Amino acid sequence: MSEGVNQADRPFVRDDAAGSGPGDLFSKFDDVIRTRETLLASGVEDPFSLVMERVLSPTRAICNGRDTILLGTYNYMGMTFDPDVIEAGKQALDDFGSGTTGSRVLNGTYQGHKEVEQALRDFYAMDHAMVFSTGYQANLGIISTIAGKGDYIVLDIDSHASIWDGCALGNAEVVPFKHNDIGAMDKRLGRIPEGAGKLVVLEGVYSMLGDVAPLREMVAVARKHGAMVLVDEAHSMGFIGEHGRGVAEAQGVIDEVDFVIGTFSKSVGTVGGFCVSNHPKFEILRLVCRPYVFTASLPPSVVATAATSIRKLMRGSNKRAHLWENSKRLHGGLKQLGFTLGTDEPQSAIVAVIMPDLERGAAMWEALLHEGLYVNLARPPATPAGMTLLRCSLCAEHSSEEVETILGMFERAGKAVAII
Ligand SMILES: Cc1ncc(COP(=O)(O)O)c(C=O)c1O
Repeated sequence: MSEGVNQADRPFVRDDAAGSGPGDLFSKFDDVIRTRETLLASGVEDPFSLVMERVLSPTRAICNGRDTILLGTYNYMGMTFDPDVIEAGKQALDDFGSGTTGSRVLNGTYQGHKEVEQALRDFYAMDHAMVFSTGYQANLGIISTIAGKGDYIVLDIDSHASIWDGCALGNAEVVPFKHNDIGAMDKRLGRIPEGAGKLVVLEGVYSMLGDVAPLREMVAVARKHGAMVLVDEAHSMGFIGEHGRGVAEAQGVIDEVDFVIGTFSKSVGTVGGFCVSNHPKFEILRLVCRPYVFTASLPPSVVATAATSIRKLMRGSNKRAHLWENSKRLHGGLKQLGFTLGTDEPQSAIVAVIMPDLERGAAMWEALLHEGLYVNLARPPATPAGMTLLRCSLCAEHSSEEVETILGMFERAGKAVAII
């Protein structure tokens, strides 16, 4: 490495002096390193290390010194700056300190953890709620604990990484089926040996393309085969369904679902994960679920903000209606401009714009940023079918005028990069 170059600014450049020969455990990352270096060599700004220098509101931040509209935050209900939520967090910091320094089963259960679990029980009208430190850990913990060696997990091939990791941790037999294909799921379930434990894992909204699962039909198929059902409603909680309980509620099958997984990092506006259920033996999971037991619990300020936010989301129908308006307008406007979208019709608050390739996707991402708009650039392996996507997630706090501004930005950037 040449003198004067700060390694922190070039964290992926290989330093030959520090071992890249046979046996270097990092050699498996060489393809990723090469792709990244080729992309950055084209002069494009690094889409994966943007810094929000200041955050002004759920929809605005200062990035590269410029006022930027945020359209890639999953902050669907815009709760991050809600005055009641902020106040609850400040109060909890004063009353309980900055952290619990302990597991939920030792010194890490405070009054606030009980209150947020009660808020979740009330929100979903379910008997049990268990809060994890992230949504990732909720999937990891629940899936690996309930489906172990000798059990079968039937899951959509486009499932989130935390679902796959939960399957791997539990060591169950994993049987994937084609995305949203009811017939394929039925067939896979039909081939599982008689008497084996069966868990079907689905998502309400799939976050890459923003499409919704046909849960009504899929839950019926799972029931027919005697399988338990877990639905991850990370991208629908707070927004979809009459009470914001998710796609299972919207499709009238929430009472047929055994476990609903969710996160505090999207509509709730903080961090944390959860599982709610009516299973009569659910509480035993608190003693046997390793990603719940062997980690520190959420800080008091986080659970206080989450509880306040969840209770406000129960009365969020006006916000839900406005978010639908925003989603429909953005989807329709982008389609009219000639962009190729992940779904024919708007199905959620995610609008995915399909890019021809990574290079032009990155160029479009950068052009939008220069316009003053932040979206997510997503690429394989996170995306299905090797797609490069610009994923837009709308917020209930985007004004209708902001959505029109966003469409103007897409039009100018799309023409500049020759995508439309
Ligand atoms: C479908 C799905 N499940 C779980 C998670 C994990 O949530 P968290 O950010 O709380 O770890 C995500 C986050 O992106 C997600 O999209």
